[in-house]
Amino acid sequence: KEGREVIYDVGRGKQRTVRGRRAAMASASSIAASIASKTKTKKKHFVAQKVKLFRASDPLLSVLMWGVNHSINELSHVQIPIMLMPDDFKAYSKIKVDNHLFNKENMPSHFKFKEYCPLVFRNLRERFGIDDQDFLNSLTRSAPLNSEAQGRSGARFHTSYDKRYVIKTISSEDVAEMHNILKKYHQFIVECHGNTLLPQFLGMYRLTVDGDETYMIVTRNVFSHRLSVYKKYDLKGSTVAREASDKEKAKELPTYKDNDFINDGQKIYIDEENKKMFLEKLRKDVEFLAQLKLMDYSLLVGIHDVERSEQEEVESEDNEAEEEGESDGGGIGTPPDSPSNTLDSTKPLSPGEFDPAIDVYAIKSNDSAPRKEVYFMAVIDILQHYDAKKKAAHAAKTVKHGAGAEISTVNPEQYSKRFYDFITTILS
Ligand SMILES: *[C@@H]1O[C@H](CO)[C@@H](O)[C@H](O)[C@H]1NC(C)=O
Ligand SMILES: *[C@@H]1O[C@H](CO)[C@@H](O)[C@H](O)[C@H]1NC(C)=O
Repeated sequence: KEGREVIYDVGRGKQRTVRGRRAAMASASSIAASIASKTKTKKKHFVAQKVKLFRASDPLLSVLMWGVNHSINELSHVQIPIMLMPDDFKAYSKIKVDNHLFNKENMPSHFKFKEYCPLVFRNLRERFGIDDQDFLNSLTRSAPLNSEAQGRSGARFHTSYDKRYVIKTISSEDVAEMHNILKKYHQFIVECHGNTLLPQFLGMYRLTVDGDETYMIVTRNVFSHRLSVYKKYDLKGSTVAREASDKEKAKELPTYKDNDFINDGQKIYIDEENKKMFLEKLRKDVEFLAQLKLMDYSLLVGIHDVERSEQEEVESEDNEAEEEGESDGGGIGTPPDSPSNTLDSTKPLSPGEFDPAIDVYAIKSNDSAPRKEVYFMAVIDILQHYDAKKKAAHAAKTVKHGAGAEISTVNPEQYSKRFYDFITTILS
């Protein structure tokens, strides 16, 4: 099949469809076709259009917002297929923007946006109970926020402004690994009806600005969009070098590790039924990961203390009241208004309460807990493949000890067992 690349020439109001550039897959070209057919009728309209601006201090975020807006809008014109085809798991849509003239101070004038497997991720969003318009609003109504709250150091993190989603900058190897596992992952999500502790993968993109390529993946936030976490752990079930460094501990919300958990005498107080459900999910999840030969993942644990955060809220309200007078500085930076806001329709919740449809990983502390708490626990960083790890370890050891040096890493099966066993111990 013939591939197409859609090129928007926004500044001059011209759009072209270039044929045969790449052997794109069926659904990619159907999206491209839909873009092409739609833009034909919209041509003039496009130039004259009043745009709401995507304001983000980082041009990359502006491009992400632009791209997600573009993608979700285009997808809304693509029919939902009865079932996904094998090609959908290799498809992509691509758009190149030249001379982006409006909003010049916030947007680079040349950029490219590529979305991987658009139909698959749309299907996953649906299975995770996420409406595409809500997803779009979360990612574009206001710029995503910088966040150091989750996962491995090194990767860049943002959360959507409403904290429902996490945007992680990933490597091209991660993108390749995602493609490797996507079909099985999708099948797994279908079978468990989205009821899993694995990351909820919701969209994967490549952004090109000034010739630099950045890969991003969007997942549901493990932590709550409104209940704050005061303590968090990254647990692997290994005790070798598993404590937070002094540098880490100096952070506002350090990521503590296995040994810290043990030495703190930390407890997760949940009742038997929640524990059973949690462990049942976890067991299936890690079995699946072992099958895929993935390892080195962690259980991310966040703890919300109900009384403590009530106290903090009162304090910050006092501060806000003091600052009120100055902060009324005019409407320039206000987020663009848009219709339909699902947040408005949610009922106010009392302290420590959550909406299980949004905070899907939340579990309340049980009646015998010394403090009223809410726990957020899910599996993160699953994209490390055994073979890639072995290769890297082998290369490192060969440099150090010469070829033939032994490689002592556990295999994915052993990793999953050790991980699961450790997590069962922290819950009792
Ligand atoms: C979002 O996408 C729609 C449809 O493609 C477009 O009309 C609108 O101008 C876009 N918004 C911005 C701010 O670019
Ligand atoms: C609450 O959790 C603790 C710690 O896991 C456990 O020892 C205790 O039996 C639980 N109590 C109830 C009522 O479930």
